[in-house]
Amino acid sequence: VSAEKHPGPGGESKGKGFLEEMRFVAMKLHTREQAAEGEMEAKAPEEQRVEKWEPTLDGYLKFLVNAKLVYDTLEEIIEEAAFPSYAEFRNSGLERSEKLARDLEWFREKGCAVGGPSAPGVTYAHYLKQLSDKDPQAFICHFYNVYFANSAGGRIISKKVTREILDNKELEFYKYDADLSQLLQTMRDKLNKVAENWSRDDKNRCLEETQKSFQFYRNILRLILS
Ligand code: HEM
Repeated sequence: VSAEKHPGPGGESKGKGFLEEMRFVAMKLHTREQAAEGEMEAKAPEEQRVEKWEPTLDGYLKFLVNAKLVYDTLEEIIEEAAFPSYAEFRNSGLERSEKLARDLEWFREKGCAVGGPSAPGVTYAHYLKQLSDKDPQAFICHFYNVYFANSAGGRIISKKVTREILDNKELEFYKYDADLSQLLQTMRDKLNKVAENWSRDDKNRCLEETQKSFQFYRNILRLILS
């Protein structure tokens, strides 16, 4: 039974590779207010249009600290490569851990109180660590969503906070050392290549994990408004 004849939950289109399916599922989970392709109804404040957000510096710092724990964890998992496929994703240029470390250092030097991670980050980091040891397909779903979320929604959030709470300071978190669209394309190609070896069941498990990655990351985004 070929995958072409039996599209999975991702509404798979022929010949475009698995990434097309991952993106399709992810875009539908956005609210209409977040992205043109979104299909969910906005309920919670962080699901509204970013333009309408009322971010606080305190909340934004909490977000950065928790996001850093998540990126630290993702990057450790890739580095350790409990499954050989993880090693494909090393040195992608999308890594955020060091960038966030520099941003947090900048805030400390300015005299801002930077606390430790809290429940949203700790819970997600723990989940990722456990998942990565037992289900690479499901783990790679989180890996994809969290890195691509920062490249898309992250840019919108960056504009908002830079203007409204950071006195026009542009954070390293949203900067990349090479052309971002190139880095993303290389990552898409790698994800497609790794997924070529997956069964339809593997692919479906990966796609079905998307909702969890949205839930976990949304809880971290919500901190910006706390
Ligand atoms: C893509 C906005 C949250 C994962 C996008 C796009 C927009 C967007 C506008 C389309 C970019 C394009 O292709 O032109 C937002 C906003 C968010 C948010 C405003 C919340 C404030 C999330 C979350 C996740 C996520 C929580 C998952 C953890 C993705 C992924 C893509 C995407 C995987 C596809 C990127 C690509 O194809 O290059 N987002 N997003 N987003 N978003 Fe979000």
